[in-house]
Amino acid sequence: MKNNTMELLNKEKINSLIEPKNQPYLSKLEIFNEIDSTNTYLLNQARSKPLSGWVCLAEQQMEGRGRLGREWFSPYGYNIYCSLLWRFKDPHPDLSGLSIAVGVMVVNSLKKGGIHQGIQLKWPNDVLFDGRKLAGILIERSGDYIVVGVGLNVYLPEMAQHDWAAVAEICKGPVSRNFFAGLLINELLSHLPVYQEQGLKAFLSDWHQCDFLFHKNIVVLLPSEKEVFGVMQGVTNTGEMILKNEKGELQYFHCGEVSVRCVM
Ligand code: BTN
Repeated sequence: MKNNTMELLNKEKINSLIEPKNQPYLSKLEIFNEIDSTNTYLLNQARSKPLSGWVCLAEQQMEGRGRLGREWFSPYGYNIYCSLLWRFKDPHPDLSGLSIAVGVMVVNSLKKGGIHQGIQLKWPNDVLFDGRKLAGILIERSGDYIVVGVGLNVYLPEMAQHDWAAVAEICKGPVSRNFFAGLLINELLSHLPVYQEQGLKAFLSDWHQCDFLFHKNIVVLLPSEKEVFGVMQGVTNTGEMILKNEKGELQYFHCGEVSVRCVM
């Protein structure tokens, strides 16, 4: 669907969606017309003048990055490209489950936007609608700081890949990017402190409700290019994926360098 109305990102509109209780966590909100990558920008800031709660959005990314060194398609004005710089306090929580928790936060922000049906999470953190990719999450670290990057497809131009989904298509009409960006940022600001206090366990029941791969036949692609086939059994309390392999043994995978596909 085309973004015919071409509503540009607007600080005041986005800010109006941040609940008062979450405002203290938002230290800076920046919107760029064009940037290399919102994640790269905040990773650089983390090295020179770090500030927890710094949010960066852009209309377009020239070098948008996805997981595993992939490119993230980032055309002007169509989607949401959002990054948040964050510092967990001491005692530092175990970060191995963070990507799972952020996936749940993205889904819950979409629910608050009225999208209740058809959203699923594919381990480690692809957000799917009807089996097609709606959003992607890239979490990176610089010293004590992390950058949480979210790409949410809102309109998608016609040339986009057919296995992608977009919010406007789900809502069957024009939607406001500012509305969904505000809901997303609000959710991150309200639930990263929950992750700080309780870790992944606070998010697991939501995760289980939308686990796309659960009990599916899958193949795990390792960095060595080795493939492991089996049936997905869910995730552990620390965010590893559990696979019952072809020998009937349980294997556990960390999200780092692994990618997963369904097999028929
Ligand atoms: C993936 O599914 O591969 C993760 C995609 C993450 C894309 C977002 S868009 C905002 C932020 N800036 C980037 O360069 N990447 C993330």
